[in-house]
Amino acid sequence: MSGLFISFEGPDGAGKTTALNKILPELKSKTSREIISTREPGGSAIAEKIRDLILDVKNLEMDDRTEALLYAAQRRQHLIDIVIPALNEDKIVLSDRFVDSSIAYQGGGRQIGIEEVASINDFAIEGIMPKLTVYFDIPSEVGLERIKKDRSGTEDRLEKEKLEFHQRVRNTYLELQKQNPERIKIINANQDPTKVALDVLELILNKFPRVFE
Ligand SMILES: Nc1ncnc2c1ncn2[C@@H]1O[C@H](COP(=O)(O)OP(=O)(O)OP(=O)(O)O)[C@@H](O)[C@H]1O
Ligand SMILES: [Mg+2]
Repeated sequence: MSGLFISFEGPDGAGKTTALNKILPELKSKTSREIISTREPGGSAIAEKIRDLILDVKNLEMDDRTEALLYAAQRRQHLIDIVIPALNEDKIVLSDRFVDSSIAYQGGGRQIGIEEVASINDFAIEGIMPKLTVYFDIPSEVGLERIKKDRSGTEDRLEKEKLEFHQRVRNTYLELQKQNPERIKIINANQDPTKVALDVLELILNKFPRVFE
């Protein structure tokens, strides 16, 4: 596969989607290669159906490992339908969340364990990993506050979880970053949106100087 795969990670409300939308036109203006931006969970027809199942607020009794398996399942389908074909066509794929989300949320947040969640994801992704993962780091309180302002009353099931859950998620992300310092780069997401987007843009341009002019 000749394409370039980049993932965006971080807790809810960290500003991933906001930054991605800001930098996308900038990146497009700096390369002749096609850039596609996609997201997890979902991103393709079948994967979106699995997403609805996972995030449905009515599924309160869903078992933690069932949830982890569903995330791994949608991930595989999204890879097969969207990511792999694009990488085979030399495209640049920006994914809003990927495997680190499962390890942080199900492994750390739900306390299934990093190794356990990594192993079911190994089965799903067969070694396909991003060349760069941009990790948006933010204190859990700040991230949660941003979400509250945004979608009060319409939070999904995961967002209803307690502060400690989000702190476990953050700690697991930081642990993953320590284990993979070459792949995972930290962005300080607790800055104004323009500065965050600028930092992300700079990181990507510096990491791939031959891709972006
Ligand atoms: N740097 C920032 N400073 C202040 N507010 C921000 C910043 N970035 C994003 N926001 C606001 O915070 C909220 C969450 O941002 P966004 O949806 O981009 O986060 P996210 O990381 O994509 O979250 P999720 O994982 O839930 O999709 C939005 O209301 C957004 O406008
Ligand atoms: Mg988002």
